[in-house]
Amino acid sequence: MEQRPANKFYITTPIYYVNDVPHIGHAYTTVAADILSRYNRLRGKEVFFLTGTDEHGQKVEKAAQGRGLSPKEHADRMVENFKALWRKLNISNDAFIRTTDPEHIKTVQGLIQILWDNGEIEKRQYAGWYCTPDERFWTEKALVGGNCPDCGRPVEQIQEENYFFLMSKYQVRLIKYIEDNHSYILPDTRRNEVLGFLKNNTLGDLCISRPKARLAWGIPFPFDEAFVTYVWFDALVNYFSATRYLAPQKGEGQGSGVKGQEEPLNSSLVTRHLSLDWWPADHHLVGKDILTTHAVYWSTMLMALKFPLPQNIFAHGWWTVEGKKMSKSLGNVVDPNEMVEKYGADAFRYFLFREVPFGLDGNFSEEALVNRINTDLANDLGNLLSRTLTMIEKYRNGKIPAPVDSKDRDGLEKRIKAWFAADSTTSIYRSYDEFLRQLQFNNALAQLWKIIGELNEYIASSEPWKVKDEEMLSNILFTLAESLRLIAAYIYPFMPSAANAVWEQLGIRKEIGDIKLDDIAKWGGLAPETKIEKGKPLFPRIDLKKETSVEKIPLAPPLTKGYLKGSPPLKKGGEGGFFDTDNLIAIEDFAKVQLKIGKVLQAERVPKSNKLIKLQVDTGETRQVVAGIGQVYAPEALIGKSIVVLTNLKPAKLMGVESQGMLLAATDSEGALSILVPEKDVKEGAKIK
Ligand code: MSP
Repeated sequence: MEQRPANKFYITTPIYYVNDVPHIGHAYTTVAADILSRYNRLRGKEVFFLTGTDEHGQKVEKAAQGRGLSPKEHADRMVENFKALWRKLNISNDAFIRTTDPEHIKTVQGLIQILWDNGEIEKRQYAGWYCTPDERFWTEKALVGGNCPDCGRPVEQIQEENYFFLMSKYQVRLIKYIEDNHSYILPDTRRNEVLGFLKNNTLGDLCISRPKARLAWGIPFPFDEAFVTYVWFDALVNYFSATRYLAPQKGEGQGSGVKGQEEPLNSSLVTRHLSLDWWPADHHLVGKDILTTHAVYWSTMLMALKFPLPQNIFAHGWWTVEGKKMSKSLGNVVDPNEMVEKYGADAFRYFLFREVPFGLDGNFSEEALVNRINTDLANDLGNLLSRTLTMIEKYRNGKIPAPVDSKDRDGLEKRIKAWFAADSTTSIYRSYDEFLRQLQFNNALAQLWKIIGELNEYIASSEPWKVKDEEMLSNILFTLAESLRLIAAYIYPFMPSAANAVWEQLGIRKEIGDIKLDDIAKWGGLAPETKIEKGKPLFPRIDLKKETSVEKIPLAPPLTKGYLKGSPPLKKGGEGGFFDTDNLIAIEDFAKVQLKIGKVLQAERVPKSNKLIKLQVDTGETRQVVAGIGQVYAPEALIGKSIVVLTNLKPAKLMGVESQGMLLAATDSEGALSILVPEKDVKEGAKIK
């Protein structure tokens, strides 16, 4: 059989039950598939990204009954929740399959018929223990304390006739297949679990029918109307049936669908179809709990059908919430809609894939999410962009300067270029590709953030604001802007909106989704003279109430007692209230206060203090200021910022460190703290009146 062309990439998510609304687990797999799809499109591949809903079976039938709706009416409503969430999360799926689609139903029936015709299915009398919620039979031996070994709920003894797929005869072949194809099941730990299970147990045959009398909501068996299809058999087939009627066909645009599906499904049609189009998938992404159904049921079904097996089944881990299993009864189910509304799709997507390696279990907490936003996104990436653009505005009139290669200082720029070189084995171009091929999303991001960190250090060490040589300054500014252009392209699969915003602010009038990485990955693509368009901060900092209300943070040397001597006591309720007429001062009093704009040159924590930060500030002259803002701001985030400083305050020592002034900041009644910054760029030393 002809191999599927290598420039195609087919990826699937599980199809989700419509018995309930989407939660973080659904979002997790779907975003993972989206990242890989976007990346493969950037690499010039033709992508088919499939997701959808699993709409048959007992769970859905019950949920519909509970709402007084027919199962189809119920499904029609519930499916909208998934579609809406995918729009919100910027999911770029090419197709959305529903197992109630008539074309899918026909495919399932066609495949059952092929298996029946080929003697792969048998009708048998069967007695067994049945778990109704999980919709599966168990042998007596498998039960745990008489209950379902999977969910722990009671099982019932059922005796009935059913159709069985003769799965057991593929046991040995499946073991060999998994052993010979190392990346068939990943990660390795899961692969070993599946192999262990297959080697230590006798694989039974799989009951793939349900008597209609017991369950009406399923795909009718093609040759016996007393039965419907087992929901997992129906659901797994979606990965194949979508390639028949939802995948783009030769010469057609993506997602345009196939015409003429009237021909009945039979072995020869299947073979012809396979040789032409999308089968098999590159990745089936699934959660660890549904690995067995994919690795064992689906693989053996495909073997029996004589279809090629997918390249890879990847089982990811589960999210717990604040250390506990997510459950409705605990009321701790994370609603992805809420997270997107609060923090934005990009930040949520970034967090899911930066925080925990794909494949391991992880713990979700909003605090951890906010931390990631504040440190990685606002401080590291956001500041790199805003500092770069501010300097280009200030020193180059808002236009990208031309690089001057001869002005490379100590090989610094050369080193930065090497990180991005498309032809070097050690560049991000290579390592990123390698990480994404192995679904090591967190490593791809860590590598990018290492570069972002080094670029921030590069600003600190090259001190552009002190550079007098204009060509050298141009070279520094170009290096920074060009690095950001490339970084944005790599960030794009994870955070499509933010990445496009970086390009927009750099003045690049293209959507990253419309370009091919190979066309833009070479150093030097940013055209000199491009007018930048500095915009809003990419990721504004978020102050979790919890973070700031723990204790009052002294902003500056505490006022010594007696400082207010002679002033009348503040009227009760005056603070934050309206006009405090008892404490009015004359303009001459205010004139005594010298406030100036200062530029933060350096910032570091005062040893052994988690509140105090020691700043070197240029207020026309360099002075040291100690400020109690360390619980809200990271030192690196302050470097380069313009702040307001009270310059004629008597020096004082804080934890032994001298402070020659006071940084001004605002705190509200809930303890949220913000340093004051000028609305426009003004020179350091500017007086505040
Ligand atoms: N309909 C089946 C899948 C059929 S695929 C042919 C199904 N649907 S589901 O709606 O229950 O969705 C399950 C998916 O959500 C699984 O991949 C599962 O691992 C994932 N998750 C459910 N809870 C999860 C977490 N707490 N964390 C991460 N993923 C989890 O099963």
